[in-house]
Amino acid sequence: MSGTLSNKVALITGSSRGIGRAVALAFARNGAALIGVHYSSNVEAAQATIREIEAIGAKAVGISADLRNGKEAADSIWEQLREVAVSMTGESKLDILVNNAGIAPALSLALTTEAAYDELMTINLKAPFFLIQAVANHIRDNGRIINISTGFTRIAAPTHPAYAASKGALETLTLALAPEFGPRGITVNTVMPGVTETDMNAAWLSAPEARAGAEALSAFSRVGQAADVADIVAFIASHEARWTTGQVIDATGGARL
Ligand SMILES: NC(=O)c1ccc[n+]([C@@H]2O[C@H](COP(=O)([O-])OP(=O)(O)OC[C@H]3O[C@@H](n4cnc5c(N)ncnc54)[C@H](OP(=O)(O)O)[C@@H]3O)[C@@H](O)[C@H]2O)c1
Repeated sequence: MSGTLSNKVALITGSSRGIGRAVALAFARNGAALIGVHYSSNVEAAQATIREIEAIGAKAVGISADLRNGKEAADSIWEQLREVAVSMTGESKLDILVNNAGIAPALSLALTTEAAYDELMTINLKAPFFLIQAVANHIRDNGRIINISTGFTRIAAPTHPAYAASKGALETLTLALAPEFGPRGITVNTVMPGVTETDMNAAWLSAPEARAGAEALSAFSRVGQAADVADIVAFIASHEARWTTGQVIDATGGARL
């Protein structure tokens, strides 16, 4: 398919649902050849995303791994994609990695147990770190690494301190790695969504006062849709964004400007 991502092989963690799913569909619309649809346990949602990608005309493969298993999960994700990439393209290569999967429990400082902290850090930071390590030598020149953060690294969130810290560390990782990948033309960036309508916050947004508060955060006076964020990720993934690396790209809809 022709498009800004024509012939690209992409891997998107957590693309069975929400922002990751929207990124996968945006990549398919922009011509990606093969998309790895990673998920944890929701096989029905992953299969539905795969069917939508195929209806657009791209190929997709489901990749299951629980990121609570950290490096083991990361290695397994790359191995699952590698097998399909080799059989489809003859090469053990990918072009775009999007570290999107994450959890965001509302746990105040007092309510955060050590177990909850460790789980959050493993899913949101450790697994993305080791997935980048696993694919580092397999990303083609001029490839893309895109990490998904949160507006809570810019706007104080005492309701989610461990979550905010995990994403702050992911942003720092992005900055630290950009020079290493630069000589190969590979950019490493973070895209930072604000409140976005997904399963992650569906219960919270169902309360009218909460929705009104979320809408008021944005300069556009509405809650973001997954496609709002996905189109920015698709731009960062494209050749047109080749001169931006090590950056945090705000996709919060102008939250608390
Ligand atoms: N929604 C927002 O308002 C918002 C705002 C700022 C930042 N973000 C960030 O955007 C990213 C996507 O959020 P979302 O709202 O689209 O989330 P979502 O709708 O809850 O979807 C989460 C995705 O991550 C996967 N996942 C969850 N736990 C996992 C685990 N232990 N191992 C492997 N995969 C796991 C899920 O797989 P299954 O389908 O198998 O469960 C699903 O594909 C996250 O990093 C989040 O922090 C979201």
